[in-house]
Amino acid sequence: MQTYGVIGDPVEHSLSPPMHRAAYEATGLDADYSRFHVNKGNVEEALRGAKALGLDGLNVTIPHKQAVAETDVVENTEKADEIGAVNTVDLNEMRAYNTDASGARRALEHHNVELDGKSVVIVGAGGAARAIAFEFAEHGTEVAVANRTQEKAFGLADEVSEVRDSEVTGHSLDEIDSLIEGADVLVNATSVGMEEDETPVPRDFLHSRLVVFDIVYTPRRTRLLKQAEEVGAKTVEGSWMLVYQGAEAFEIWTREDAPVEVMDDALKRKLR
Ligand code: ATR
Repeated sequence: MQTYGVIGDPVEHSLSPPMHRAAYEATGLDADYSRFHVNKGNVEEALRGAKALGLDGLNVTIPHKQAVAETDVVENTEKADEIGAVNTVDLNEMRAYNTDASGARRALEHHNVELDGKSVVIVGAGGAARAIAFEFAEHGTEVAVANRTQEKAFGLADEVSEVRDSEVTGHSLDEIDSLIEGADVLVNATSVGMEEDETPVPRDFLHSRLVVFDIVYTPRRTRLLKQAEEVGAKTVEGSWMLVYQGAEAFEIWTREDAPVEVMDDALKRKLR
C-alpha cells in the first residue's frame, strides 16, 4: 500500500485528501492520503520523518512551500528552484516539484486556452502570481504583472524577464484598465474575492474578448467570474488549478495519467 499526505498549518480544511482518494478509488490504486499538521520550523524534521516512516509522497501547502524549497533534504527540480516554492515531494526519489505553476497552465489548456503568443495580465505579485508568471513566460506568453504594491510587481517582472529571457513588465494597479484592454487573458492571483463578495478589477475594464481565470476557488463563482460572464468573457474557475496541481502530483507519484474528471467531481462536491 502507498501512503501520501499533505503538510501545512493550517491543514484541516485541505481538499486534497478527498480529491486524491477519489483518484485512488477510480484507478484501483492501493493507496491512502492524510492531512498532517506541521508547525513552522519543523519542516525538515517532517520530511525526514515521513521518509523514515515509509511515506511515498507529500503535498505541501501554506506556509511551508518556501521552506521545503530551501531545504537540502529534497532535491528541487529546476522550476521549483526558480519559483522558490515546492508543493509536491516524491519521497521515494527525494525530489521536490512545483505543480501549482503547471496546474494553472493545464487549467487553461483544459478550457482550450492556448498560451503561446497570447498577452496575459496577472493581478498580484505574491507566491501564486510568481508561479504563474514563471510558467506562462516559459510558454511563449507576453506577461504583464500588476500589483497593489507596485514595487513587488516590478521586482517579480524583472526576475522572470531575466530567468526566462522574455519581456515581462511590472505595473501598478492604476494601469490595469489599459493593460486589460489589449489582453487575451486576465488572471486574478490575489486573495481578493475569497469568502467575500469583492473583485480586484472593476467590471467596466472587462470585455468579451477576454478569458478570465480566478485562482480563488471559495466561492467557485467569484464576483470577478460572474462579472466576466456578464460581459461575455470566457471564465475559468480556480478549482481547476487545484485539480491540475493534484493531477500532476498523482502523475509524478504513480507515473500514470490522473483521472482528472474524477478528481474534479470529488472537489466540486466539497466546494460551494
Ligand atoms: P499568495 O502566496 O497566495 O499569492 P501572498 O503572497 O500573500 O499570497 O500575496 C497576496 C497578493 O494579493 C499580493 O499580490 C497582494 O498585494 P500586495 O503585494 O500589495 O499586498 C494581493 N492583495 C491582497 N489583498 C489585496 C487587496 N485588497 N487589493 C489588491 N491586492 C491585494
